[in-house]
Amino acid sequence: MHTPKKLTKLFDNNKIWADSIRESDPQFFYKLSKHQNPDYLWIGCADSRVPANQIIDLPPGDVFVHRNIANVIVHTDLNALSVIQYAVEVLKVKHIIVCGHYGCGGVRAAMDDTQHGLIDNWLRHIKDVYRFHEEELERIDDKEERFHRLCELNVVEQVRNILNTTIVQNAIDNDQELNVHGLIYDLKDGLLKDLSH
Ligand code: CO
Repeated sequence: MHTPKKLTKLFDNNKIWADSIRESDPQFFYKLSKHQNPDYLWIGCADSRVPANQIIDLPPGDVFVHRNIANVIVHTDLNALSVIQYAVEVLKVKHIIVCGHYGCGGVRAAMDDTQHGLIDNWLRHIKDVYRFHEEELERIDDKEERFHRLCELNVVEQVRNILNTTIVQNAIDNDQELNVHGLIYDLKDGLLKDLSH
């Protein structure tokens, strides 16, 4: 029989973390267990180096999070759409943040012509982003620079996809306060850049 190795380190970490939070705010977990009221929906890459709460330094309860490979929003993805619907209609978040990152493996894989298996069907959406912006991208001679730019353009396109969902359209029609932002994170210095302007 398969006996899983124990996650001793993680349980130890968890105990220390929970104790330290209780120490500074004994009611913290009790209050959070009653309800969540986040202002932000974060849609980011699944990459282990881009952990939502950590890089914006917000505690549990402040950010509703959805992550997938290369922070892609597809109009037939019930998973992502359900997250957006719940966040907008029930939690009434004030901001939706699409956060991409430079050096994104998903975006890089979408730029080459080799097969990667099942994931190619997902990366197809980023290949479409490339095609929409082919003229601009092909003008960039340096391959790394072109890759950087595609990481940015992918965020811009996903912001557009979110704005085009019926969920967000209805919220806007109903004058609900809702802002959609495109950000990109730099793995090299830990800093976020706003692509919305
Ligand atoms: Co990525």
